[in-house]
Formats: sequence, C-alpha cells, structure tokens
Amino acid sequence: MIQLMARMSHGKASAPAKIILFGEHFVVYGSPAILAAINKRVSVDTYTPIDEEDKIVIRSDIGVVGRYSNDGEFNALEGGMKSKAVLDPLYSAIKEVLLVRNEKKRIGIEVCISSKVPPGIGLGSSAASCVATVAAVASLFQKNPSRQKVCELAIRSEKLIHKKTSGADCYVSTFGGLMQYYSKSKNFKNIETKGLLSLVVASTGVKHSTSELVTGVKRFKDTNKLLFESLTKQASDICLQACTAIESGKLDKIGALMNENQILLQQIGISHYKVHEIIDICSKAGAIGAKITGAGGGGAVIALAESKQESTKIASRVKAAGYQSFEVEIDYNGLSI
Ligand code: MEV
Repeated sequence: MIQLMARMSHGKASAPAKIILFGEHFVVYGSPAILAAINKRVSVDTYTPIDEEDKIVIRSDIGVVGRYSNDGEFNALEGGMKSKAVLDPLYSAIKEVLLVRNEKKRIGIEVCISSKVPPGIGLGSSAASCVATVAAVASLFQKNPSRQKVCELAIRSEKLIHKKTSGADCYVSTFGGLMQYYSKSKNFKNIETKGLLSLVVASTGVKHSTSELVTGVKRFKDTNKLLFESLTKQASDICLQACTAIESGKLDKIGALMNENQILLQQIGISHYKVHEIIDICSKAGAIGAKITGAGGGGAVIALAESKQESTKIASRVKAAGYQSFEVEIDYNGLSI
C-alpha cells in the first residue's frame, strides 16, 4: 500500500457472488428471475487520504493495479492494457459515490479489492465488486450507507460493463438471500425455502463477456420477434411455478423446471457444448435438474441435488471429469459494511 498519512480513514465492505436459478436473459426483457446470493465474496478496503493527494488508486488481487488522476486519466501500474477495462467500472463506482456526496475537494483514495469469486463465468463477480466498492467508499464518509442507495449506484457503474443490465446481480449481491427479482419495477420478494436447497456449481472454464452475450440475445430477439415473445412468456411461467415449488419444498418440480429453463436458454443460443457435457455428468451422478447459471456462452452450470451427500457426489464426479466444481450455500447476509 502507498505510504499513509497521519489521520487516515479506513472503510471496508464485502458483497457476495450469486447464482441465477431461473430467468437469466429473459429478465432483461421484463420477465422475473430467481436468484440466490452464495457463500463466495468480494472484499474491499478503502483508505483516505493517501499521499497521492488527488489520485484514486485501485488494486485488485487478480493482478491489476491502476491510478486515475482527478480528470480521469488512467495509468496502469500492473496488469497492462487489460487493467483499464477491469478497473474502469470500479473507478466509475467510486466517482458516483463522490458525486452524490458532492465531494468537490480533491481527495486521494486507495481501494484494495480481494475476491474469492471466479471471474467471467456468470457468478456475478463484477456486480459484487461494484456493490462492495460503492459501500466501502461510502463508508469512508458516513457510518451506515443505505443499502438501496449503494445498490442503485452499483447498478449505474455496472452499466459500463453491460448497458442493458437488468440490475438483478447487484440486487441479490446487496440484499442477499434467495429472491424473486422483477426488473420492470427494480424490486424483489424474498423467497422462503422449505428444506435445504443442495446446489452445485460447475465451471466450463470458458469465460464469457456478459455484454456480448446480452447483445447476441437482443439480435436473436430482433430477428425472431414472435418466437422470443413466446419464449419470454414460458420463462416467466417457469419462474412463477419455481417460486411456488421452492416455497413448498418440491425438489423434483424445481429440478424439472430447471431442465425446462435450460431448453429455453439453448433456444436463444447462449448454451455451449461443455455446458451440455457437464449437465450430462450431473444428471448421471443423480442431479434432479441442471442448467446454465448467468449469461452462458460457456460460463457455469448449477445442479440441484436431493441432499447434501448427493451434491458432494455430483461435485466430485464433475471434478473427476476435469471441470472445476464446488457446492454452494445461500448467503443470507448480502452486503456487509
Ligand atoms: C447475468 O448475470 C444475467 C443476465 O440476465 C444479464 C442481466 O440480467 O443483466 C444475462
């Protein structure tokens, strides 16, 4: 860390990654989605003032470090060219907080990000980073920044990553738990689960750009208007049925609906042969249902198991086939400041 001055303030926050159980992509067009925050977090520490008075320095443990001057000029300190694309949304998140606080005074801030969330596979690492960064910077100036406000500012920054974001990832990362999210009203309802949901995440190892995949789906929608309308209606029905099934603990029904949702995702062209390979392994290992989670195009798969013991078995079968896989638990805390 850059040498610190005498009266330095320290802020910190962490926010969870997420899985989407139902409704990704269709949520961008007003259909609901069911999401859960998971027990993998992005943590952010912030410091001010630093001895580079008017600079914002951002360090991420994925090997990128950059410095922004007061007029936004960027200097890569580590990670070369790719660092700008990674750090720009976080810089924008910081500026959003300073703007809202009307911090005209030039202050130097250092932001250190450490992440336990695998990036680029649909687990919402960028949303969690934006949420935790906004909260950690805001906490330098006030004791308990409002979660709703943090979420709104994080969504604004996430828009730099992909313009058409539904806001779902930032919402679940901020508020935590299992929720049905309505993109039209930017609102959500907590879902009470009857019994445990034993879930496994498996990564195809194929990284994606959410923005490109969302643009690809828009292209599909524009050239297949009626079909897309019908698929959106089906996605919406699946989501509503899934909510009832989760609330009443009907695992078989939830699994069947996950499989139906996967078919819709295949129809809009965001699946991948490695996704199919993993789904096949999961179902042979006893999964009740499995599907892409998040933007797809590779990315990650989630599978539902009958019990904790079964999910351990599924994860180890997936690993034996050479893919990264882990069991996940729902995180009910959301943003922690
Ligand atoms: C990405 O995690 C989820 C998408 O539905 C995009 C969005 O909701 O903004 C693909």
